[in-house]
Amino acid sequence: MLTLLELLKDGRFHSGEALGAALGVSRSAVWKQLQLLEAELNLPIHKVRGKGYQLASPLVFLNAEQIALIAPSLAWPIHIYDSIDSTNAEALRLVNATCTTPFLVLAEQQMAGRGRRGRKWISPFAQNIYYSLVLRIQDGLRQLEGLSLVVGLAVIQALRESGVQGAVLKWPNDVLVGQKKIAGILLELVGDPADICHVVIGIGINVNMQRADEVDQQWTSMQLETGGAVDRNILVALVGLQLQRYLDRHKVSGFAALQAEWEQNHGWQGRSVSLIAGVSRVDGVVLGVDRQGALRLDVDGVEKTYSGGELSLRLRDDS
Ligand code: BTN
Repeated sequence: MLTLLELLKDGRFHSGEALGAALGVSRSAVWKQLQLLEAELNLPIHKVRGKGYQLASPLVFLNAEQIALIAPSLAWPIHIYDSIDSTNAEALRLVNATCTTPFLVLAEQQMAGRGRRGRKWISPFAQNIYYSLVLRIQDGLRQLEGLSLVVGLAVIQALRESGVQGAVLKWPNDVLVGQKKIAGILLELVGDPADICHVVIGIGINVNMQRADEVDQQWTSMQLETGGAVDRNILVALVGLQLQRYLDRHKVSGFAALQAEWEQNHGWQGRSVSLIAGVSRVDGVVLGVDRQGALRLDVDGVEKTYSGGELSLRLRDDS
């Protein structure tokens, strides 16, 4: 099926006869494979009598050599999968099988993409970026402090470099344009966080996705924002370069050195919010973050700080 996709990826018309000859199968076998492509990968294919078959839009696949050409300073080995349950899950499996870090896991499609707080991350084929970078953490908790917030800074810079000017952060690490989510970040740890451990930095960016009925929150994509298709290999390279830059600064100086920059990029700075943790809720006004990346809220005139992966922020109606 993927060989057929290789033939069709240019977005031009190909006759059933030519496709059959290239694959060494009959025209009816080509037809069956096309049906499978449409059903399993959700890729619309135009069928025009006398012309043949054409993908609704051309595809550019992820390619490790191209990424290395664009960003030669990134020496991370890259594992690319056509389809995987979750790049974070695969990265965690690979940590146990290899001792070489850092490394990067990418996929064209995730069948069980994971979001924060147990949510699903909808991950259609060849449209978006599903990115998991594995780092070895030696300094224990200090190197983890504010790490997910720093990743958010790297992602918004890469988005801006790619033409999405309106990208802002929402604590702890959502990336929004207006009130719509364009990217999400999920860090997962393996090992002893107080000593030596590995962290998987999972990043999902909605790149060329234009429809997704299953997404249960307001969302947008780079293509919807900029009006043009984005080359995902260039984007992967830009995200890598920004991550390298921000992770180096974080490693040397800690989150405190990036606290002010993070607040400048926080779209909900000064807004009235509700902080939700399960069934409990606190109302306050966002003051910013502290030196560890915890949220600072003004609650009835008193400054309070909050941290933890299960927390989420909502704007209050009066905000
Ligand atoms: C969120 O809920 O905002 C976090 C979404 C994180 C999604 C990315 S996609 C790559 C990596 N693999 C996963 O299964 N999840 C993360």
